[in-house]
Amino acid sequence: MEIQKNISLKPYNTFNIDVIAKQFALFQSLNELEELFSDSRFTVHDSQLILGGGSNILFTKNFDGIVLKNELKGIEVIKEDTEHVYVKAAAGELWHHLVLYCIEHNYAGIENLSLIPGCVGAAPIQNIGAYGVELKDVFYELEAYHWQDKTVQTFKLNDCAFGYRESIFKNKFKNQFIILNITLKLNKHPKFNTQYGAIEKELEAMSVKELSIKNISQAVINIRSSKLPDPKLIGNAGSFFKNPVVSKFRKHTIWEYHKDLVSYPVDAMNYKLAAAWLIEKCGWKGYRKGDAGCNPLQPLVLVNYGNASGEEIYELSEQIIQSVKKEFGVVLEREVNII
Ligand code: FAD
Ligand code: EPU
Repeated sequence: MEIQKNISLKPYNTFNIDVIAKQFALFQSLNELEELFSDSRFTVHDSQLILGGGSNILFTKNFDGIVLKNELKGIEVIKEDTEHVYVKAAAGELWHHLVLYCIEHNYAGIENLSLIPGCVGAAPIQNIGAYGVELKDVFYELEAYHWQDKTVQTFKLNDCAFGYRESIFKNKFKNQFIILNITLKLNKHPKFNTQYGAIEKELEAMSVKELSIKNISQAVINIRSSKLPDPKLIGNAGSFFKNPVVSKFRKHTIWEYHKDLVSYPVDAMNYKLAAAWLIEKCGWKGYRKGDAGCNPLQPLVLVNYGNASGEEIYELSEQIIQSVKKEFGVVLEREVNII
């Protein structure tokens, strides 16, 4: 297997940050991966990073280790019954290709997750979610390679500790496993999920008479395209921060002064606040310094207009965190992985 040296990662991250990886290798099979981990050149590395589409990463410095770009391919139906179909997809497939495959075959469940950038293997890492659906709602199992034990292990739904933009792979098992494939349990008879207000509105605007997973996918694509910057045109990694979950008391305190506060109940004691609202209220929407900025349409998205460094984007995120904390007493947590 070829291990390249001093490779620019600019083509491999959607923020378009130009940093250098000391070493870089592509893998297309488990065999190649095993070969790599038994390679004597590998054991000297102190760090390694598995990369999918680089759409949830901010590089703030050169990477002093090996970057492994996942190119595992393949989508297949592994079993089915009258209600469900189990679709197994290799980690290097593009997520949206998998969505399109399922729509084409009328397998329902991931149409609301249309157009999320990146690869299948990263989807469980933060339990991707959008428009009322999360990966966990259709997840069946995954297989992952433990690079130190050199074993392939299976994780079922309950093993993954999925939460809002969270999983066991971001916490307890961080950097321990390389996800090889995932299997989704999809519906042959769709249960449409249009509870997210914007979808209903968009379906109306599209003059849809009869619901289908294809229509829902198109509605989601239209909504996303209207407010999220296309990484091919402007560097970004989607929402930079998570929507913060705060106590009922904190939410009420803010609401007393700001009756337009956007919040959603999580349970009897907690509310999720729209981070975009908090950031806009602090005056950051449309802010730009050099090439680092806060998107004018969706301020939760930080952008690289050209040649911003990862440090500049990070510094901007730090300033936003501090100002939201000062104004509202709420600490924003970054969704994007900082490397
Ligand atoms: P990468 O950025 O390459 O990696 C992300 C993390 O996962 C890294 O820590 C990496 O090491 C790890 N990783 C990647 N592959 C593997 C693997 N095979 N095994 C183990 N670890 C791995 N996210 C949402 O949840 N909802 C959205 O609506 C959404 N919208 C977005 C819109 C835009 C415009 C953009 C740019 C991003 C958006 N995202 C969204 C974030 C992003 O697309 C997802 O998090 C996606 O799953 C990242 O996939 P990736 O392959 O690019 O991961
Ligand atoms: N808002 C403002 N000002 C703005 C924009 C939005 O106040 O300029 C308020 C609006 O009231 C709006 C609310 O923020 O109703 C929420 O905005 P939006 O519907 O765009 O969703 P979001 O909370 O910003 C989340 C996810 C997205 C996901 C969408 C749709 C997080 C961190 N982000 O965004 O995921 O696509 O909902 O479900 O949960 C991502 O994770 O990268 C991502 C893009």
